[in-house]
Amino acid sequence: MFRKIPSWLSKSIFYQVYPPSFYDSNGDGIGDIPGVIEKLDYIESLGCNALWLNPCFDSPFRDGGYDVADYYKVAPRYGTNRDLQRLFKEAYKRGIRVCLDLVPAHTSIDHPWFKQSCSAKKNKYSDYYIWTDDWVEDTGELKAVRGYAERNGSYIANFFWSQPALNYGFAQPDPKKSWQLPVTHPACRAVRAEMINIMRYWLDKGAAGFRVDMAYNMVKNDKDCQQTARIWRQVRNMLDKNYPDAAFIAEWCNPAQAIPAGFHVDFMLNWMSLTDKTLLQQGRPRDVLPDTEDKCFFTRTGHGDISGFLKSYLHHYQHTRNLGYISIPTGNHDLLRLSLGRTQKEIELAFALILTMPGMPIIYYGDEIGMKHLRNLPSKEGAYTRTGARTPMQWDTTSNAGFSKAAVHKLYLPIDPHKNRPTVTGQDKNPRSLLNTVRKLITLRKTHPALSADGEFIPLYAEPKKYPFVYQRQMGSEKFIIALNPSNTPAEAIFTYPYPINPTQLIMGSIDTIHEKHAHYHLKMPPISYAILKV
Ligand code: NOJ
Repeated sequence: MFRKIPSWLSKSIFYQVYPPSFYDSNGDGIGDIPGVIEKLDYIESLGCNALWLNPCFDSPFRDGGYDVADYYKVAPRYGTNRDLQRLFKEAYKRGIRVCLDLVPAHTSIDHPWFKQSCSAKKNKYSDYYIWTDDWVEDTGELKAVRGYAERNGSYIANFFWSQPALNYGFAQPDPKKSWQLPVTHPACRAVRAEMINIMRYWLDKGAAGFRVDMAYNMVKNDKDCQQTARIWRQVRNMLDKNYPDAAFIAEWCNPAQAIPAGFHVDFMLNWMSLTDKTLLQQGRPRDVLPDTEDKCFFTRTGHGDISGFLKSYLHHYQHTRNLGYISIPTGNHDLLRLSLGRTQKEIELAFALILTMPGMPIIYYGDEIGMKHLRNLPSKEGAYTRTGARTPMQWDTTSNAGFSKAAVHKLYLPIDPHKNRPTVTGQDKNPRSLLNTVRKLITLRKTHPALSADGEFIPLYAEPKKYPFVYQRQMGSEKFIIALNPSNTPAEAIFTYPYPINPTQLIMGSIDTIHEKHAHYHLKMPPISYAILKV
């Protein structure tokens, strides 16, 4: 049995910062940690009380830092270890906890462990990575990289060729392939111990926890991730014992599996399939979608279908209730920006969902002002089509949108060239701006337990191929009804409800009418609208 979830997590609203694109404090064109410190007051002004920083460790940046060369050293372009510790302290002063990105499944080819592992001469690191005995061997579904090292054999890569998989062993090693080590092999144990040391090191320095990259992909040939889950349960036991306040967040994308495996939180990225057709077509998101028939719900054509999402959501919700949280992010560094093809009103609707659902919301930097997805940028540091979601934060109307004092050609990525590009200062004082709507939704969530992570979630109207989507959140006697109609035609929900509902209960958004008839409520919503009622 695990300890309870750290209580601060139940009240958390995360803000995700992609370090090179947030704020450049030293004018070299690349965002840095002192820059994040300078902008903490802004993050506090949003009402966010936790930060997740994408990897900020020393790296050749062939995959945006998800290719770590030294887990104990902040990448010089972002600052120093002292800067990171200062960020922990300064954030904490403002009630903001800082979580780091842990990349345990692979390192960069530039990591000293890997360099030694490449050597033909047997050494301590020879089995830290997965190497076949002979370079021609068949590796099945595992990605083999051949011809890199003098050592005979090929190594297994996890994502790009430059990200060799650390060796956590095989759940059922093939007896004919002696290179497939069991999870109990001393080298696999040593790798696990290394990861735990890294975690302890940063927690001792003041990190509030970790988002764990590809947490599902540790032990190989691992049916249902059972052996991988054993590793994480051991880590969770260590955290429970020594760091009971540390957040443990998985990138697993299967909460029903990740939470019993020891994580406090897991992402549900398939919510994005409600907003993003491209993801849908690509077959993302991986394994959480029970049926591929799901259609984007958040599109004005009104051809979406909430029922597929809901089926999946309820599956995860029921398997994780009281054990951990589902996290629905507004976007992230891998996805198309939420604003793509959407008006301000439509973006607000998506925020209304995210900020009124149970679990742990995450706002991806810039989504709160509706930053655009910049299409067709040349790939930066292995981002490819993800590049457009990683452009510099737009702070104000000064040069480089206030992101950096560097010359334009030195910027990490180009800034949205549009003359009316959204900025923080442009929206800060306007009560009707997206930024201030987001702030209002955050305040509402924080001041009402029914809307918090733990408040109960009950769907009231979620019919296949119909709009709107209506649900209740409840804690004790406090109750809210939330209704969302992303389609550009009016929509009506008909549902039963045991308590009185009337239009004066509307506290945010809009409705056309609500009335009771034959023991059913009829809720009529205008096109592209949301409503939050305190009933
Ligand atoms: C998931 C991360 O979010 C992504 O950016 C990265 O490329 C892969 N994991 C590989 O580490």
